[in-house]
Amino acid sequence: MSKTIAVIPGDGIGPEIMDATIRVLDALDCGLAYDYVDAGMVALEKHGDLLPQATIDAIAKHTVALKGPLTTPIGGGFTSINVTLRRKFDLYANVRPAISFPGTKARYENIDIITVRENTMGAYMAEGQTREGSGAEEVAVSVIRNTRPGMERICRYGFEMARTKGRKKVTAVHKANIMKTSSGLFLDVAREVAKDFPDLEFQEMIVDNACMQLVMNPYQFDVIVTTNLFGDILSDLCAGLVGGLGLAPGANIGKDAAIFEAVHGSAPDIAGQKKANPCALLLAAADMLDHLEMVSKATRLRKAISDVMNARDRTTPDVGGTGTTDTFGDAIVERIKAT
Ligand code: NAI
Ligand code: MG
Repeated sequence: MSKTIAVIPGDGIGPEIMDATIRVLDALDCGLAYDYVDAGMVALEKHGDLLPQATIDAIAKHTVALKGPLTTPIGGGFTSINVTLRRKFDLYANVRPAISFPGTKARYENIDIITVRENTMGAYMAEGQTREGSGAEEVAVSVIRNTRPGMERICRYGFEMARTKGRKKVTAVHKANIMKTSSGLFLDVAREVAKDFPDLEFQEMIVDNACMQLVMNPYQFDVIVTTNLFGDILSDLCAGLVGGLGLAPGANIGKDAAIFEAVHGSAPDIAGQKKANPCALLLAAADMLDHLEMVSKATRLRKAISDVMNARDRTTPDVGGTGTTDTFGDAIVERIKAT
């Protein structure tokens, strides 16, 4: 069996962590073939386009992509490429697991929380955002637009994923007490959908309280389902609980395509220095293997990452190590080959 995936190395630390990740995937013998395509600054320089049509076509053809971080130039009116990709492929569910690994500088041990964030509407859409006037007269307006089908599909995705993964509890995070329309609709739909999943415990929590609860007692959380803006913030908070962005993967899932990536950006401050932790992208690759129904390979990959996390001479500085992107990747490859 051979499956081809689109591979987008991306900008900054992207090519370094992608190189390590592909070496690890090859060591796992997944039978994957790679169609390398460009996006981001590297694509702008090579092809004069941040997101070339060939890249879009490759994702559409293979339906699964592994993507490094992309730099969207500030100014010049460029729309974020990530937002464009999410829209183009209607990647409505952003799934971000936060799992602690022993040996990191994490604040908590044994955390295992998955945030399911709505990815296509809410506060992050460009429509309805205006900024007019100047001086004391300046007024900025943003619009939050949520639809019932949009809320329904994200809630169903969250509950169904929870059931499939054998999870116990789903927490819907909202601010319906104040944002009565946009968040109110989300909460109404979450309550309705919860009725179809009597096997799962359902909890509602207001977002500010959820932030405090996550820091005070994260163990009460299992799966969090929420809207776009809250999901963005809460999932970074969860990444902070388990040792930072170097360990945080994200999946963008739609009906016809899925893009797996690290949550972090292109890290220009450490690019080219081989200091980047490849684990966020590797964990995204593990989630991709789950998606491709190579569950035992995914489990083997996660176990290998966990096993080498204590090897300080091999791991990267962000998790307390003295190694490089390459030594970290090599350690994982060796571990996979030994098991
Ligand atoms: P960033 O995530 O690139 O960096 C934040 C901090 O975390 C930096 O100190 C960086 O060195 C560190 N860091 C990030 N990834 C790391 C890793 N794997 N190992 C060790 N340390 C790591 O966020 P920033 O600086 O706000 O954004 C830089 C660029 O990335 C911007 O152009 C932004 O638009 C883009 N970006 C792209 C994303 C994507 O393509 N999914 C997501 C977030 C930002
Ligand atoms: Mg974010």
